[in-house]
Amino acid sequence: MTSLSLNPSITLLFLSMLSLLSLTTHATAPIHLNEVCANTTFSSNSTYQSNLNSLLSSLSSNATHSLEFYNTTSGENTSNPVYGLFLCRGDVTPQLCQECVAAAVKEITKKCSREKVAVIWYDECMLRYSNRSFFSTVDEKPKFALLNTQNITEQDRFNKLLAKSMNETAAQASNAPIGSKSLEPKK
Ligand SMILES: *[C@@H]1O[C@H](CO)[C@@H](O)[C@H](O)[C@H]1NC(C)=O
Ligand SMILES: *[C@@H]1O[C@H](CO)[C@@H](O)[C@H](O)[C@H]1NC(C)=O
Ligand SMILES: *[C@@H]1O[C@H](CO)[C@@H](O)[C@H](O)[C@H]1NC(C)=O
Ligand SMILES: *[C@@H]1O[C@H](CO)[C@@H](O)[C@H](O)[C@H]1NC(C)=O
Ligand SMILES: *[C@@H]1O[C@H](CO)[C@@H](O)[C@H](O)[C@H]1NC(C)=O
Ligand SMILES: *[C@@H]1O[C@H](CO)[C@@H](O)[C@H](O)[C@H]1NC(C)=O
Ligand SMILES: *[C@@H]1O[C@H](CO)[C@@H](O)[C@H](O)[C@H]1NC(C)=O
Ligand SMILES: *[C@@H]1O[C@H](CO)[C@@H](O)[C@H](O)[C@H]1NC(C)=O
Repeated sequence: MTSLSLNPSITLLFLSMLSLLSLTTHATAPIHLNEVCANTTFSSNSTYQSNLNSLLSSLSSNATHSLEFYNTTSGENTSNPVYGLFLCRGDVTPQLCQECVAAAVKEITKKCSREKVAVIWYDECMLRYSNRSFFSTVDEKPKFALLNTQNITEQDRFNKLLAKSMNETAAQASNAPIGSKSLEPKK
């Protein structure tokens, strides 16, 4: 048996660290941004519903295994397959990623309870599913936009730099090995 006798100042430090920790955890709860539910519906108790249920549970359970991206298909050999994925921002912790995917599953089940096609965005992650396979394809919809709340003084220079950076980032991201998170700046 080891007995630790902490002196009061150490205890105080520990307690304040704990409360800081819980404040931080609270402050970094996933931030919901938006969702899109597409217009075609399935009926309750349908094959689609049960495939969607297992898709969502497979997505949340894989998020608990430190995966920050995962795509899967449910009911691939049924007449109603469901395709889905989640993606976390590269700089979020595995724990926050997991919380975000769990929140996304809960929220999208509420908000898009009958739609076959849905996507939900958080600041930290996104989750998407469809009755059409959309893996490794470029889709410009569904989409939504956020406004920059900061003022730009040199607008021309800003927009040029923005376009250049976006182009370079797209090129680097598409050339990066699957699963890699950091983009090494090219010399
Ligand atoms: C929903 O579907 C109907 C019929 O297909 C279509 O006319 C309508 O534009 C759709 N609404 C949206 C928001 O996509
Ligand atoms: C769907 O399932 C629920 C619970 O299993 C059942 O109560 C309900 O009658 C079913 N609805 C249809 C349309 O089959
Ligand atoms: C991850 O998903 C796969 C297939 O979608 C599933 O078989 C597996 O059980 C999931 N992993 C965990 C840890 O649940
Ligand atoms: C995941 O996506 C890749 C393409 O990017 C695809 O080849 C693969 O079949 C998908 N995995 C599942 C389980 O659907
Ligand atoms: C679906 O069918 C293919 C081809 O018959 C088979 O290889 C695969 O294992 C099946 N997948 C599942 C999940 O049953
Ligand atoms: C997805 O569902 C819609 C609405 O039921 C249907 O029109 C469409 O053909 C389906 N897409 C695929 C790829 O099955
Ligand atoms: C941006 O500029 C506008 C107009 O000059 C001003 O009202 C606003 O407060 C500025 N916003 C910020 C975030 O500086
Ligand atoms: C970014 O790429 C697009 C498409 O290739 C091109 O039209 C555009 O001129 C590029 N912009 C810059 C700033 O490089």
